[in-house]
Amino acid sequence: MKKAMQIIMTASLLGLITSPAMADDMPDGAKLFKKKCKMCHAINKKKVGPAVINMSADADMLTETITNGRKRMPKFGHKFSAEEIESLVAFIQRNHAE
Ligand code: HEC
Repeated sequence: MKKAMQIIMTASLLGLITSPAMADDMPDGAKLFKKKCKMCHAINKKKVGPAVINMSADADMLTETITNGRKRMPKFGHKFSAEEIESLVAFIQRNHAE
C-alpha cells in the first residue's frame, strides 16, 4: 500500500498524472507551435510570417491555412493529425489579440 502511494506520488511529481481538470487528450498546441511554427511566427511580432496576435481568429480559415498552406506558408495537413491542427488553431485563438 505504502509503495503504491509512493509510485503515485512520484508519477504525479513527474507530471505523469494530470489533474482531472486538465485531463483531456488534446495535443498541446503551444508545444507544437514552438516546435514547428516558431521559426516563422512569433506571438507578437512579424517574422517570416505574420504575428499570432495579428492572425485571423476564424477557425475555418486558420484550419485551412495550416492544412493546405498559402504562399510561403508551408502546408502541414500531411504532417499533423486533425486533433493537432485543432490544438494549433485553439492556441492561435487563445493568443490572438481581441
Ligand atoms: C517557413 C515559414 C513558416 C512556417 C514554418 C509556418 N508558417 Fe505560417 N505563415 C508563413 C507565411 C509567410 C504566412 C503568410 C502567408 C501569406 O502571405 O498569405 C503564414 C501565414 C499563416 C497563417 C495565416 C494567418 C492569417 O491570418 O492570415 C496561419 C494561421 C499560420 N501561418 C499558421 C502557422 C502554423 C500553425 C504553423 C506551424 C504548424 C506555421 N504557420 C508555420 C510562414 C510560415
